[in-house]
Amino acid sequence: MTGGGDVQSLNAVIASAINTGNELNVELMGVVRGWEGALKASYVNLSRVSIDPAIGGTILKSSRTNINKVKNGPEEVIDNLKRNNITGLIVIGGEDTLSNSFLIKSFPQVLISKTIDNDVGMIEFNEQEFKLENIFNYFTLGFPTASEKIASFVSLKDGLRTTAYSHERIIVVESMGMHAGWLALSSGMGHPDFIIIPEFPLDYEIFLEKVIKKYEDQRHLIIVVAEGMKWNDGSYIYTEKDEIEDLGHPRFGGSASVLKNRLKKDLSKYFNTRNINAVNPSYLYRSGAPNELDKHWAKELGKEAVKLLVDGIDESIFLAVQRDNTVFKIENVPLSKFSSIDKLHRFVNRGFYNPEEFQITENGKKYLKEIVKEIPHDESYGLDVLMANSDQLIVDS
Ligand code: F6P
Repeated sequence: MTGGGDVQSLNAVIASAINTGNELNVELMGVVRGWEGALKASYVNLSRVSIDPAIGGTILKSSRTNINKVKNGPEEVIDNLKRNNITGLIVIGGEDTLSNSFLIKSFPQVLISKTIDNDVGMIEFNEQEFKLENIFNYFTLGFPTASEKIASFVSLKDGLRTTAYSHERIIVVESMGMHAGWLALSSGMGHPDFIIIPEFPLDYEIFLEKVIKKYEDQRHLIIVVAEGMKWNDGSYIYTEKDEIEDLGHPRFGGSASVLKNRLKKDLSKYFNTRNINAVNPSYLYRSGAPNELDKHWAKELGKEAVKLLVDGIDESIFLAVQRDNTVFKIENVPLSKFSSIDKLHRFVNRGFYNPEEFQITENGKKYLKEIVKEIPHDESYGLDVLMANSDQLIVDS
């Protein structure tokens, strides 16, 4: 079963689960449309289906369903599974989708985390003793591909910085991620000038000063703003108030545009505000093909999940991706270790983000380097720098 926002590596999990099921001679059913399908007993036999693991999205489709909102929902789900001789469930989802698993804990389940938000796991930060091995569930499926995309979108080599430079513009780029700033933070691997994340509400006046100063130095800027950014009075910069989904989240999407408009208003005395733009890649973060890291671990997790269910499990298991020296490995953790899904909901902290500079920290980079390549930032780019190294005179009116 796949639920919540899709990611690029879901079909890779499903394809690998099918192959493993076929090898082990077990029949695999797919639940159609996540927990909605579980409530309606919407299943499809996957045993003879062949899926391309390199194509994104989920062949099984998805929904954002809270089974607790339906009378006797959890009991209904278990009855449906049992009635159809289904003996184990693989749930591939983010924090919301996996929260439903806690309501049917008694049914054998294997949980695989996926979300471009990367907010499922645990990441405490201790400056003295920062070890990558201590991070529980190093990344969620989808995050490797989405983080590579955002780093590339903002970079000089592949992204917006060239056009921002050419037109002396400020470009505000929106990141997805709901309440968590991991995706926005990972843009740091492509060197934007400022990153604003939901975990640290924005003191706009301080930010504005920094923007003016850096623009004066550089004459172009890339600002990344997370969709769930908050002002320092605690209010979200933008939500679609009428579109609250089943699990209680508002619809985000629009923060870059709001921030752009506020900057336009406050910077009009400095320059032509036509040169302040907003870009929201939005669903492009989740779309297309998975990258190699994403696809590889999707396949490994799919295989492991089927093996565990075939071997038989006494209680539901969460499959975590762990860092072990220089490699990743899968760790099976009983779900009973966590009292609720909240224990698995992780956010960016000061170890990874510097709210004074609106930037990723060195430890933030150390963490992310294992997932996404840092795109080299060419400091020698730009007319001023090139001319400074030649005997030509810059005539600047
Ligand atoms: O949870 C993943 C995510 O991509 C969030 O980053 C984003 O806010 C949300 O899904 C968008 O959801 P929907 O697909 O319902 O528009």
